[in-house]
Amino acid sequence: MIDAAFLQTLKDRVSLPDLIGRRVRLVKRGREHTGLCPFHTEKSPSFTVNEQKGFYHCFGCGAHGSAVDFVMATENLSFPEAVERLAAEAGLRMPTPDPGAARAERKRAGLQEAVEAAASWFTAQLQGGGGTAARAYLERRGVTPETAARFRLGLAPDSRTALRDALIARDLPESLLVEAGLLIRPEDGSAPYDRFRNRLIFPIGDRRGRPIAFGGRALGEARAKYLNSPETSLFHKGATLYNFANARQAAGEGGRVIVVEGYMDVIALAQAGFPEAVAPLGTALTEEQMQLLWRSAPNPLLCFDGDAAGERAAARALERALPLMTPQRTLGFVALPEGQDPDDLIAAEGREAMERLLDRALGSSEMIWRLTCSEHPPQTPEDAARRDEAALSMVGRIGDQVLQRSLRDAIWERIREERAARRSQRGGGRRGGKGAGLPAGRGGVGLPQIPMAAANRARPEARLLALGLAHPELVLRDLERLAAAEFSDRELDSLKSALIDATSRQAAPDAVLDSGALRAHLSAAGHNAVLCRLDEMKIWGPGVSSDAERHDVERDWQEILARLSSRSAARAVPEQVAALRRPAGAGS
Ligand code: UTP
Ligand code: MN
Repeated sequence: MIDAAFLQTLKDRVSLPDLIGRRVRLVKRGREHTGLCPFHTEKSPSFTVNEQKGFYHCFGCGAHGSAVDFVMATENLSFPEAVERLAAEAGLRMPTPDPGAARAERKRAGLQEAVEAAASWFTAQLQGGGGTAARAYLERRGVTPETAARFRLGLAPDSRTALRDALIARDLPESLLVEAGLLIRPEDGSAPYDRFRNRLIFPIGDRRGRPIAFGGRALGEARAKYLNSPETSLFHKGATLYNFANARQAAGEGGRVIVVEGYMDVIALAQAGFPEAVAPLGTALTEEQMQLLWRSAPNPLLCFDGDAAGERAAARALERALPLMTPQRTLGFVALPEGQDPDDLIAAEGREAMERLLDRALGSSEMIWRLTCSEHPPQTPEDAARRDEAALSMVGRIGDQVLQRSLRDAIWERIREERAARRSQRGGGRRGGKGAGLPAGRGGVGLPQIPMAAANRARPEARLLALGLAHPELVLRDLERLAAAEFSDRELDSLKSALIDATSRQAAPDAVLDSGALRAHLSAAGHNAVLCRLDEMKIWGPGVSSDAERHDVERDWQEILARLSSRSAARAVPEQVAALRRPAGAGS
């Protein structure tokens, strides 16, 4: 007997369209692939393959089955032989025929039952009299009761034995609760106690949505903000994604999966109308998680913080994905505004802001370009060569030859564009010597989807504003000079005025200006679109990160400011600033 868990793993691992595609020419149509049925003769295709459901079906002859059935039928193999063949291809070792397999299956079912019982108990605590504070917390964070119910959010009360007592009263053995990760058994042999205490509980589901583990967010003081269940025989962190079952279903309809960092992000997204978001469980994406993602959508979008750490995380994910990618299995990259996770972004700027970012996801070649430009800012021809080499060598690690060639072409395109831009810059009279403005490579070479010439013109302006947004104290200090700087881009110019306005009005002379609040204010004041555009232009450019070297920020700020104000040096300080400098309440 081949055990059910192994069969499930095998079916999850094998891509049905890939398998069947070797024998049948398949065409993708919406959620399904179609082709000419290999089991009967036909002229127009009535054979369909549904990857998500894991079966093929022929409307002509009624042939129907799973990957194993297909191999049995087309290769004339018995069931165990077909399983063995598929397992070998998928790199899975066959479980040794084990008289204990049935016992292991029963054990799994027992653990699952314990976790399910705990999930119900946690949700009851949240709904009950002891849940008032936790419900208020959720409300403060904008999570509606419907959303809480949909995600089965719960509460672990501040007690060492509440869960244990409740579940033991339901005849669940203590040792099972320990094994399910619900209780911690102290080394010294004293009584096991509840793992989750005074935490908001997020049930983590398996691929079909059945709870197998929990994440818990601290509600009070705690050593770790989040605590997860330990690895158990039900729960393998690296092979699990939070909200996968729902997202997979949603992706079946919309064809999109979004990967974010946190549970709260997944929940905020779902509530805002993006049910297709998942999160890894506090670790970098594993290969297995990527395979899961690709099983649900061809181009999962990975959201990362727009700071240096976010860039590193994106780079790591991309590195890991390169050997696995094919034209049908790619990745998109979405840079979030610095310091904001999707939850914050949606709270501050609404679902449209998120939708806009998703619409502008970078492809892998764009991401490779961006990463390598930021690693080797191409300020000299030698730097540029190092960058080119790094980018091309990343592309070279793509396993699929067709995809590799296509991305290599895209990189060469970028290289040529940049060379052309440098030539035209030199032609335009700038010598490129010290202090002659930004080196060509800084601040986001190769911006996606923005015509090169326009991007070149707007880039220093955008960068100046990005720096100002991240470091409002600079804006406050150099108010007049900023106001005098001449902007050629109308949208950016109006953001500049708003930034000056907001900064000077909001800050008491020695107040610590908060970049996030400033952003939220500007966004509320109708500058959302241009802020997004700015994010897009500045993302991962060096020096904009709040913890970037103070010195670099200052130097860039001064440099751009000098360059932009020299255009209008002869002009008087605009009346606007004089007005702004008046004490609040006095006029305007
Ligand atoms: P974040 O710190 O970004 O949390 O961690 P968050 O989801 O935005 O939560 P809020 O908004 O503060 O409530 C992102 C993810 O990293 C993991 C969790 O999976 C979390 O959702 N994490 C974080 C941990 O596992 N342990 C921690 O101590 C912190
Ligand atoms: Mn958050």
